[in-house]
Amino acid sequence: MYEFAPDMARPKAELYGELAGAARALVEGEADVVANMANVAALIWQFVPQLNWAGFYRMIEGELVLGPFIGKPACIRIPLGQGVCGTAAMCGATKLVPDVHAFPGHIACDAASRSELVVPVMRGGQVIAVIDLDSPEPERFDTEDAAGIERLAQVIAASI
Ligand code: SME
Repeated sequence: MYEFAPDMARPKAELYGELAGAARALVEGEADVVANMANVAALIWQFVPQLNWAGFYRMIEGELVLGPFIGKPACIRIPLGQGVCGTAAMCGATKLVPDVHAFPGHIACDAASRSELVVPVMRGGQVIAVIDLDSPEPERFDTEDAAGIERLAQVIAASI
């Protein structure tokens, strides 16, 4: 049984540090990328409050393909440059969207989503995946959330 019980009263940066450490421990020594992405998605879901979707899109032959996630079934393929995920993947940069309705081309997978954070996972200078978080709360994510998920992305990049 895996026990991870973060103290949610601690500062956000510390909690994301704990999340990164827990993710490192989970993926260390495991070669199966699906298992690793599934466990990291589950950790994010347990750790980050106010989410309605958390998971991965993988870069496969020049487009994003749905990977392990928690939430409602989502669109399977996202071309580069489309939606929040495709934009983050094309730019190789985090996209923090306080109001998805104000983001041109946002792809709605769950009508409840109001804000979104997408962080590229980079390996060898290439985007190999993105981590996508959706929230039903407007302006749910800030720069500390972005930095925390970017740290997580670095920790797991070699294992997914
Ligand atoms: N909203 C994303 C699509 C993926 S779902 O949120 C899970 C986008 O605009 O790329």
